[in-house]
Amino acid sequence: MKKFLVTIVLCMSLFRSMADEGMWLPMLLGQQVYNDMVKRGLKLTKEQLYSVNKASIKDAIIIFGGFCTGEIVSNEGLIFTNHHCGYDAIASASTVAANYLKEGFWAKTKQQEIPSPGLYADFLIKIDDVTKEVEEALKGLTGTERLSKQNAIIAEINARYSDVSKNIIGKISPMFKGNQFLMFVYQRFNDIRLVGAPPESIGKFGGDTDNWEWPRHTGDFSVFRVYSGKDGANADYSPNNVPLKPKHFLPVSIKGIKDGDYSMIYGYPGSTNRYESSYGVKQKIDIANPTVVNLRDMRLKYMLEEMKKDPATRLKLASDYASIANYWKFFDGESKQLIKYNVLGQKQAAEAKFQQWANGKPEFANIFSDWGKVYDAWRPYSKHQIYLNEGVFGSPLLGFAASLQQVENAIVKKGSSADIAKAVEAAKEARAELLKSENTVSDQKIVGTVLQLFYNDIDKSQHPIGFFESVKGNYGSLDDDATWKKYAASVFSNTMILNDAKWDAFTKNPDGSVLQADPAYATASAFVKNWQGKYLPLAQQFNSKNAELGRLYLKGVLEMDPVKAKKMYPDATFTMRVSFGNVKSYAPADAVKYDYITTMKGILEKYKPGDYEFDLPAKLLELAKKKDYGQYADPVRKDLVIGFITTNDITGGNSGSPVIDANGNLIGLAFDGNYEALSHKIQFDPVYNRTICVDIRYVLWCIDKLGGATNLINELKLVK
Ligand code: ARG
Repeated sequence: MKKFLVTIVLCMSLFRSMADEGMWLPMLLGQQVYNDMVKRGLKLTKEQLYSVNKASIKDAIIIFGGFCTGEIVSNEGLIFTNHHCGYDAIASASTVAANYLKEGFWAKTKQQEIPSPGLYADFLIKIDDVTKEVEEALKGLTGTERLSKQNAIIAEINARYSDVSKNIIGKISPMFKGNQFLMFVYQRFNDIRLVGAPPESIGKFGGDTDNWEWPRHTGDFSVFRVYSGKDGANADYSPNNVPLKPKHFLPVSIKGIKDGDYSMIYGYPGSTNRYESSYGVKQKIDIANPTVVNLRDMRLKYMLEEMKKDPATRLKLASDYASIANYWKFFDGESKQLIKYNVLGQKQAAEAKFQQWANGKPEFANIFSDWGKVYDAWRPYSKHQIYLNEGVFGSPLLGFAASLQQVENAIVKKGSSADIAKAVEAAKEARAELLKSENTVSDQKIVGTVLQLFYNDIDKSQHPIGFFESVKGNYGSLDDDATWKKYAASVFSNTMILNDAKWDAFTKNPDGSVLQADPAYATASAFVKNWQGKYLPLAQQFNSKNAELGRLYLKGVLEMDPVKAKKMYPDATFTMRVSFGNVKSYAPADAVKYDYITTMKGILEKYKPGDYEFDLPAKLLELAKKKDYGQYADPVRKDLVIGFITTNDITGGNSGSPVIDANGNLIGLAFDGNYEALSHKIQFDPVYNRTICVDIRYVLWCIDKLGGATNLINELKLVK
């Protein structure tokens, strides 16, 4: 019996040392982390993972558009990423008549590929440690002074590493909350073209009902291509550009996966806060998350009502709707999981342990008592800030109107005609963008409701002076819904922002009093100026103190346990990371077991003809009926595998990331996290955390059998 226990303990500690937690910097894998990867099944050398001089996997991984990850899969610059990453580009390329979002799109030749202005691909050239230089400049500084000096020195070093003429971009990212500074140097390419996308009913199958959940059956992929000038250097879009010749591209394995297989994910996780304080967690649960969720809930409801009415509106609002909905569900789930796992209690316990170590050390002893006071001072205003960002600016019209403050400032404060012309020009461009995705029916309802909610939810002492009194005087009781409807209606029918003639007259002859009298501008600026005058300084104070204490805490944590510190990974900062783990099933609840893969059988089970989220293209149904899966069929399941799950540690920004097998081949694309681990930004859960991936065989099947784009399949290096 005793021997049995010892074996269990040994196994557990072995498992611990090889836990799946960690978003590792590719050049700092070190012998220890690398050895763990090998133990887990990796068959590659360190040089193959990351090398500055030789081609390595890192050369096939890109930042896609500044918000997602993509990977190069052919010698001709072909990019795979998620459908939800390409979503805006696909929607922008679509019209109601040629609706690629709805019907899908497949370029059968390179000439048919669609330029996607605004998108770009960043390739990582190298990473340098510049901590010494930054710290030299920051010696002895604290608080806001330190923060502004830090920004200045970072800008200076960034400029030194950048070369505008070659589109080479140097960007310092502070690691461990500013205890280390790393320089990331990228080569950016601006000519990106849309090559293929499945119909939305595949690419977003399951919609928001299935979002952040396993079991999942979404074909969340899209295909782009990066072009360069004939010399291989970056060039803006031109028909004369040629497909980029990459340093490395990922071969694609269609051998299939088993439970327990090694899985490695490269990509750009956006942000985590694994050393968030207990005060921060409490703030999130009590105030921030519920406020964001409430405001988004309301906005989404009004948008969806209109989207369901007609296809043009659906196309117009689809992209904004998807991104609002994505984090609406995320924040709701995050709170639930933070509570379920008692993350607050765990944080408090870790902080108590830290306090014991810190007692008697002047640098660290007062961190937590100071931190408590900083939060106490900020708490009364935090909801107000969210109401501004997610409420007032949650209305596209008011969000744009607020930006006209630049024009007002140029007119009222500076007065130079060049300044005014510049501000007006920027406003014209921004207005054109607004109108592309503006639906006035939903927006008007949002404005009325947001203002009413603000009135009821935000402490009266923080209201903009005069605003609510004037609404009451002109439109009626503030407790009456009808008052707010009338007010919003009057804003929308009288603002020059939605009236071409009035807008043109204003931009031809910009006049401060005309702008100030505009009802949309007056509404937005009442809230913005109130904030800027009284609360922004408090917000800045909170941010700089919170950052300072966070940095000190982490510094202490690193000093407290130097052995553990050697094997710590920094929080995600949208810089390249490697995560390793395994394909693995899990048990989400008592008596429930989740398989590690989903199949076409499950798609057909979820299928609801005509449904907003669970409808399917006729062609898919037809092929599925015939079981026409070709070389993509899974030999064991005798079915088409759709998705799978792994234990990898990823987060938003990793979307589109390659899931790579032990030999460096692409086996899937990561596209989501599971509901049971939505607290992952604050704390990684080793039991429940899973990454949700689309199986590469389903991706290829869609391209080949459904889209008929065999031209693309022929470009790939298939491993069979
Ligand atoms: N949850 C996914 C992510 O953040 C995005 C999924 C998009 N799909 C959707 N139904 N909104 O990476």
